[in-house]
Amino acid sequence: MGGIEDHIDVYEKKEDIRGLKSERVNKDSDIFKVRDEVFDQSTRLTIFKLMNNGYIESLSGEIATGKEANVFYGKNRDGKEIAVKIYRIATSNFNKMYSYLVGDPRFYYTKKDKRSTVFTWAKREFKNLKIASEVINVPKPIIARNNVLIMEFLGKNMKPYPPLKEIKAKNPEKEFDTIIESITKLYDTGLVHADLSEYNILMGKKIYFIDFAQGTIKNSIMAQDFLKRDVENITKYFSNYMDVPNPDETLRGILNE
Ligand SMILES: Nc1ncnc2c1ncn2[C@@H]1O[C@H](COP(=O)(O)OP(=O)(O)O)[C@@H](O)[C@H]1O
Ligand SMILES: [Mg+2]
Repeated sequence: MGGIEDHIDVYEKKEDIRGLKSERVNKDSDIFKVRDEVFDQSTRLTIFKLMNNGYIESLSGEIATGKEANVFYGKNRDGKEIAVKIYRIATSNFNKMYSYLVGDPRFYYTKKDKRSTVFTWAKREFKNLKIASEVINVPKPIIARNNVLIMEFLGKNMKPYPPLKEIKAKNPEKEFDTIIESITKLYDTGLVHADLSEYNILMGKKIYFIDFAQGTIKNSIMAQDFLKRDVENITKYFSNYMDVPNPDETLRGILNE
């Protein structure tokens, strides 16, 4: 024996310690102090394998808790900073996720059960990041395994760059143009973000789009509607700071009509 499962059993017994916040967690000790709903047994196994393969050396504080996922700060074996996004299996709204997935021809054949849906969701974000990273600024995807996605960490001093929402637009015209240009480049390469807003844009040295799990290829049924919504969200946000062009006009520009 002496396999991974043995280790997992040992870790299981440590489960009563809860409440990870910002202390360093490493592979020998503390990884499973966190909440059960994130680190269920299969997720622990996935993380454990990623640790054995060097993709994760350490995990520290939780960066964000979202509707479907929790994001953690970590480092890989080479000391490179990573963001580890863990999609919760238990508490996800998988019916909604499933309906979003199968509208995308790439994932039409996804099995309709919770695990398949959540795993495919993580894989979809990974694939979308891969496509997007060729043409715009996004966190570089490293690996997706089951419900865990590892990507480049975007931030400073272990803190993510702030979202557009929290930053007073310094040069709104320029930022607006850059964002529309990124939407256009993404569309030209065949992808629509589909969940774009001031929350899913991080403002570092560059402007980064994040959160690509809903991203859909442009010949899926809903792609045009999603594109329109993305443009409207961005236009609405910037209308607080500048005279914005009519979103339909911007849309025509993106579609090259
Ligand atoms: N690659 C990353 N680098 C740094 N922080 C990140 C990264 N990805 C996500 N985050 C942080 O986690 C938050 C939630 O991530 P996001 O992908 O938008 O998930 P959700 O689906 O929960 O909205 C972001 O607002 C950001 O603060
Ligand atoms: Mg988000």
